Amino acid sequence: MLITGASQVLTLRGRGARRGKALSNLGIIKDGALLVRDGLIAAVGPRAKIEALPQAKSAEKVDLGGRVVLPGFVDSHTHLIHAASRAEEYELKIAGASYEEIARKGGGILNSVNKLRAATSEELEERALAALEQFAAYGTTTIEAKSGYGLNVESELKILFLHSKLQAKQPIEIISTFLGAHVVPEEFRARGAERYIAVVIEPLLREVGKSKLAEFCDVFCDRGAFTLEQTRQILEEGKRQGLTPRVHAEQLTRTGAAQLAVRLSAASCDHLEQINSSDLAALAKSDTAATLLPGCDFHLGLKQYAPARKLIEAGAIVVLATDYNPGTSPTVSMPMILSLACTQLRMTPAEAITAATINAAYSLGREKQLGSLEVDKLADLAVFEVADYREIPYYFGINTCWMTMKRGVVVHAANKTTA
Ligand code: NIG
Ligand code: FE
Repeated sequence: MLITGASQVLTLRGRGARRGKALSNLGIIKDGALLVRDGLIAAVGPRAKIEALPQAKSAEKVDLGGRVVLPGFVDSHTHLIHAASRAEEYELKIAGASYEEIARKGGGILNSVNKLRAATSEELEERALAALEQFAAYGTTTIEAKSGYGLNVESELKILFLHSKLQAKQPIEIISTFLGAHVVPEEFRARGAERYIAVVIEPLLREVGKSKLAEFCDVFCDRGAFTLEQTRQILEEGKRQGLTPRVHAEQLTRTGAAQLAVRLSAASCDHLEQINSSDLAALAKSDTAATLLPGCDFHLGLKQYAPARKLIEAGAIVVLATDYNPGTSPTVSMPMILSLACTQLRMTPAEAITAATINAAYSLGREKQLGSLEVDKLADLAVFEVADYREIPYYFGINTCWMTMKRGVVVHAANKTTA
C-alpha cells in the first residue's frame, strides 16, 4: 500500500525514549509518503522519492489529501474492563464531595468492584469492545489495560482472561497489567490489608505469573489504598513471577512511591501530582517513565496538575495517557489528553505528541515495534483532518481523527470522502 499526500508525516524517528529537548523533535517530512507491506512500514520519506520506488508502482494507493499522519497513539494507562459509569459520584463531586470522601463511604473503586462482580463476562466484553472501537476512532492503536475492579481470585482472573479474549476478537493491541492491589476489598476491611495482600501474593500473582495473563504488575500506592511497604512487597513478588512493575504514585498524597518505582526499575510511575524536588531528581536520572494523566485532574476538578515542565527540563522520560476509568478519567480520547497537556501542563504540541507515541511505547517495552514511523516498525497510523500537527491539540471536544490503521489495516475511517 502506498500512502501519499500527507501535508506532514510525523515520523518521530530516532532511538529510544526521548528526554528534554528531544521531546520537541517530531522528525517531520513535508509532503511525505509511506509504503506499507505485510502490516509493516517498508519505506517512509518525501513523496517523490517513495513514489519512485519500484514497489510503489503496483501498490494500492491511499491519498491523504493534505492531512497529517503520525504514529497511532499508544495509551499506556487504562482500566479498560469495568461494568458501568459512576455518573452518580460525578454529581456528588460537583456538589463538593472529594474523591477520597466518596471512597471512604464505600463508593469509588469499591463501587466499581461491586458492579463488576455482578456483571457477566459477556456484558463486560460488550462494553470493552465498544470502548476499543472508540479508542481507534480517536487515533489510538495500542492500549495497556489493567485489572483491578475484581479484587478476588475469580474476578481478577476473569478480567485478565478477557484481555486476551478481546485481543483475539479485534485489532487494537492490548498489553495486560495485573492490578490486584488497587484497594483492599470490602470483605477484607475488618480482617486487615495484610490478609488481602496474602491473597494477591499467593494464589493471584502465582497464577498470573504461570498463565502469562499479564506482563506488568501495578499497585495503587496512596492514602486509602496501599502503603509504601505493602507496595514494595507486592511489586517484588510480581518481579519474582516475571512481571515488570508499574505504580500509581503520588496522586492524592506523597508516599515515596515514585522513588520506590525507580529503585525497583519499574517501567513507569503514573500520576505524580504530588512529587517533590527529590522525586523529580530521581526520575530524571532513571529509566523509569513518568506518566502524566491530566484527564484525572480535569475530571475531578483538581487544580494541581503534575509538574510536567520541571520533569521535562530535568530530563525525565515524560509519557501521557488517558487513565480511561469510570472514577477519575472517563475518556478514551488521546487528542483531549494532548489538549489538556498543552493548556494545563504547559507542554508544547510536539512534546505532547512525543509523550503519547514513542515515549509511551517505551514505557510498555515496545519502542522497537511501535511509536514511530520507521522502516520495519508496525504500520500503526493515525491520520488527522488537519494540515498542521499543532491543530491536533488545538481543536478540543471534536474528533478530527480521519483514519486509523493498525498493522496496515484500516480500523477507523471518518464518515467523509474529501478534505
Ligand atoms: O488511576 N488511582 C487509582 N486508580 C484509578 C481510579 C480508579 C477509580 O476511581 O475507579 C486512577 O485514577
Ligand atoms: Fe489508573
